[in-house]
Amino acid sequence: MDRRDALKLLGLSPLASAFGALGLDARPLLDAAQARPAPDVELALTASPAELSVLKGAPTRVWRFTGRVIKGAPETLQAIPESWLGPIIRLERGQRVRIRFRNQLDEPSIVHWHGLDVPELADGHPRLAVNGGREYVYDFEVTNRAGTYWYHPHPHQRTGAQVYQGLAGMLIVSDPEEKALGLPSGPGELVCVLQDRRFDANNQLVYASSVGGGMGMGGGRGRGMGGGMGRGQGGRGMGMGMGGGMAEMMQTMNGWLGDRVLVNGQPQPTVNVDRRTYRVRLLNGSNARIYKLAWSDDTPVTVIGSDGGLLERAREMKALTLAPGQRADVVLDLSERAAGSELQLRSVAYPEAAVGHVGMMGETGPLPQGAPLTLMTLKVSNTSGPRVRLPERLATPPAEWRVQPEAPVRRVSLTFMQMNWLLGGRTFEMEGVAPEETVAPGSTHVWEFRNEPNPMGMAMAHPLHLHGPQFRVLSRTGADANALRDGISDSSATDTVLVLPGETVRVQVTFSTHPGLYLYHCHILEHEDMGMMRNFRIRA
Ligand code: C2O
Ligand code: CU
Ligand code: CU
Repeated sequence: MDRRDALKLLGLSPLASAFGALGLDARPLLDAAQARPAPDVELALTASPAELSVLKGAPTRVWRFTGRVIKGAPETLQAIPESWLGPIIRLERGQRVRIRFRNQLDEPSIVHWHGLDVPELADGHPRLAVNGGREYVYDFEVTNRAGTYWYHPHPHQRTGAQVYQGLAGMLIVSDPEEKALGLPSGPGELVCVLQDRRFDANNQLVYASSVGGGMGMGGGRGRGMGGGMGRGQGGRGMGMGMGGGMAEMMQTMNGWLGDRVLVNGQPQPTVNVDRRTYRVRLLNGSNARIYKLAWSDDTPVTVIGSDGGLLERAREMKALTLAPGQRADVVLDLSERAAGSELQLRSVAYPEAAVGHVGMMGETGPLPQGAPLTLMTLKVSNTSGPRVRLPERLATPPAEWRVQPEAPVRRVSLTFMQMNWLLGGRTFEMEGVAPEETVAPGSTHVWEFRNEPNPMGMAMAHPLHLHGPQFRVLSRTGADANALRDGISDSSATDTVLVLPGETVRVQVTFSTHPGLYLYHCHILEHEDMGMMRNFRIRA
């Protein structure tokens, strides 16, 4: 059997060709593949174009993940009807998972399992992207704690566009520790993915035409994106530039905002709920918008989990800041509500300056950050369900989250230079990794993110995300007066941390023992695509 046959047999040809293109030897990959044990769960996941009825009138062209269970319980995948969102993937800690991703788009793509700590080749690095018509096979073991994670594409300079077009889904992990708590589940669980979008008069999605490849070089990157591409709302009263224009460029630089917010792909849905306790799993799947979430009647937001799973204890907040990429698990007790009553999930108003922006225009799009929003309405029926009392103590945090005062500190600046967002003064290089971005397996470091205003005093809030481990926030200084600050709890580990303008945030991270190349980046997807992303390497 020659190498090619072996690859084919293993379903690895796209992988091998990706490596071939980089001039790398596929041998180690092959060996790794041959060593892969049989999975407990095997799924097929396909990204392809679709048409959906989202708004009244004409259907909207979207891109969507669809899935199929090849091996394992049928409940492993839960489709969300009439939504561009991919199926909810439900996994259990300890499961060995194989996912066959098929790309049916006409451009390269690759999927990343946001929040999961997986081997390098299962992490969805852009250098592994496969062309349309090809397949990529993921093998990993679920080692994460029970919690709310998600998946989305991660191709070079096209993450923002592909997510915006609809490619994203929730990934929920459970484990025995969590099951023993008897938290609301099944019909007692609500999954809410928050995303904002712009639609043109024909109900087609409108996205920036110039993301990636540097400013002013956008041109023909938008193929297949529907009628709205390249039009935008650019040029509104600006009178400069061509095509999308300067205003559109500035909007892109500040992160692409929609003028409508959708929950699970539906505009301001009304959801019928029972008189019972709910577990609400929230994901901010927006490209750039930051929400400050609250219940309309000032019921406190009872947070039981964050990116890294359950908190040690529930925490009541007036409002909860949720930045792109972040998740929150919230408990809502409706057992004493009157039948017929309503409750809204809102994003409360905050000043746009809390997020900040760059550019002389001050033009951040049709619905600026901080605009008050009604996201969805819960309508209480007269059916009663179980009332769940939360245990005093929800979980025991893993030992590596304990503060380790001797951990070495690395400073990482977040800056805007020459019309570009930089991390540690650098932009993304596909395989580039600096010495200070190289860490020993299992080692613990403190990374200090410093959000530094440019010489004109402009800065933006950046949700910084690390692939791989969940990390803990040690301290925040410099933005106490920011209106988003009191909605940030930092009470447990996270994989995405919001760093406010002018703020310095220290995080402690224990890297995994999977060697290889991983990413850290801003989760404003336009920033990521523009290069506010770097590799880190875990040494073998
Ligand atoms: Cu959710 Cu690298 O991203
Ligand atoms: Cu990630
Ligand atoms: Cu950013």
